[in-house]
Amino acid sequence: MNALSDLLSSPHLRRLARSTPGYYTVKNSVRNLRNAVRRSDHYAAAAMAALDRPLVPVPVKLDRPRAAAIEITNACNLNCRMCNTKMQSRDMGLISKKDFEHLILGLKKVGILSADLHTVGETFVHKGLGDLVEIACRNDFGVGISTNAQFPDKLRELHSRFPFVANSFRFSIDGASKETFEFIRVGASWESLMESLETVRDINHGKINRNISLTIDSILCMANVGEVAQYFEVFSPYVWPEHIRFGLVNGLSPDPSFFRQMLPFTNLVRAAAPCSLPFTGIWFTYDGRATTCCRDYDAELTIGDALSQDVMEIWDGAPAKRMREAQLTGIDLPKPCQNCDRPYHFADTVANCYIHHLRLNGSRLTSAAFGEKILSLLASMDEAMASKDMELLRKRVAAAFRGA
Ligand SMILES: C[S@@+](CC[C@H](N)C(=O)[O-])C[C@H]1O[C@@H](n2cnc3c(N)ncnc32)[C@H](O)[C@@H]1O
Ligand code: SF4
Repeated sequence: MNALSDLLSSPHLRRLARSTPGYYTVKNSVRNLRNAVRRSDHYAAAAMAALDRPLVPVPVKLDRPRAAAIEITNACNLNCRMCNTKMQSRDMGLISKKDFEHLILGLKKVGILSADLHTVGETFVHKGLGDLVEIACRNDFGVGISTNAQFPDKLRELHSRFPFVANSFRFSIDGASKETFEFIRVGASWESLMESLETVRDINHGKINRNISLTIDSILCMANVGEVAQYFEVFSPYVWPEHIRFGLVNGLSPDPSFFRQMLPFTNLVRAAAPCSLPFTGIWFTYDGRATTCCRDYDAELTIGDALSQDVMEIWDGAPAKRMREAQLTGIDLPKPCQNCDRPYHFADTVANCYIHHLRLNGSRLTSAAFGEKILSLLASMDEAMASKDMELLRKRVAAAFRGA
């Protein structure tokens, strides 16, 4: 089964599919069909299912890592309020071509065939991004590109060089107005964002996801909840609405004060430990250190050196074992993990599902009313979670979806 799903997700097969004539037409029809058969309670069902999972799952170590990311640089052109990447104490650096290829080959050995190219930096800041993508291409390795969308020219250049590989991007956009976007994404320009979106639209000949597939991820917090409805208007020429995802802001940052201030629903937040990341994936810093966290700002959670050790040696090694034990027992938990808080998984899922449920069923809502409804759901979940009353929580979530 795993071998089959690995085969189907092979970058080579995906590249082959994309170059087949009629690919876009088929893809579009499948999407229309899927949306048509999706009952209006699709998102409600997904939200209720999230409430059935354990509040704090006990992580179990996988036989090998399944997820991975290679930080090609820790440098960033921005300093977003929830991320604060410029507070990291590490020197800024870029991965070398040699080390990048070494890491890719190491991942392939354990059956990982693709990886994101970021942890706490901006992918397009790496001047040799094209050369890295070429190396990935040569090794039949898929890359995930997440960007703050401030580099329209570089995006066009990368796509024209690798049309069948650099054809899927995630734009991180935390506001649907210039004011909010530039407030949260400190140093960013709304005009560059719009130029990046127009670049994708141009490459797609005015269609959505024709040559480049685009998803938008946004944090959800008090600073932008009032303009959630606007996302579906402002970004509708560029992205399918179901591919705009909202995730509650989390406390993974060297300074979590924005998170604390902007997510005042304290009962919806838990200590991240026991965290599943050290049990499921592996991340690499630009200088080849292996770490257990997707945003290890100061490389304090390292478990080995992937330039001199095999991935499996690191995965099964003593430092990784200690890290997992600390997560399970809470004893000797590293400092960044002690200070890491995040929303419960269900809260994230319910919020995103509710937004999409409202999008489909609340067309007469004003933008302000849309935001009020989200806030009201968060507040009612928060109240139920004050006494961890799961029955009340279920009732409230179900009622909110019924009344949308
Ligand atoms: C750290 S960034 C690195 C990639 C790239 N610079 C970007 O902005 O997409 C990866 C993702 O983490 C998200 N992120 C950063 N800090 C966050 C926080 N405190 N809560 C939730 N998401 C956060 C960003 O919005 C972005 O989507
Ligand atoms: S979220 Fe991305 S763009 Fe914003 S500061 Fe962090 S790394 Fe930079």
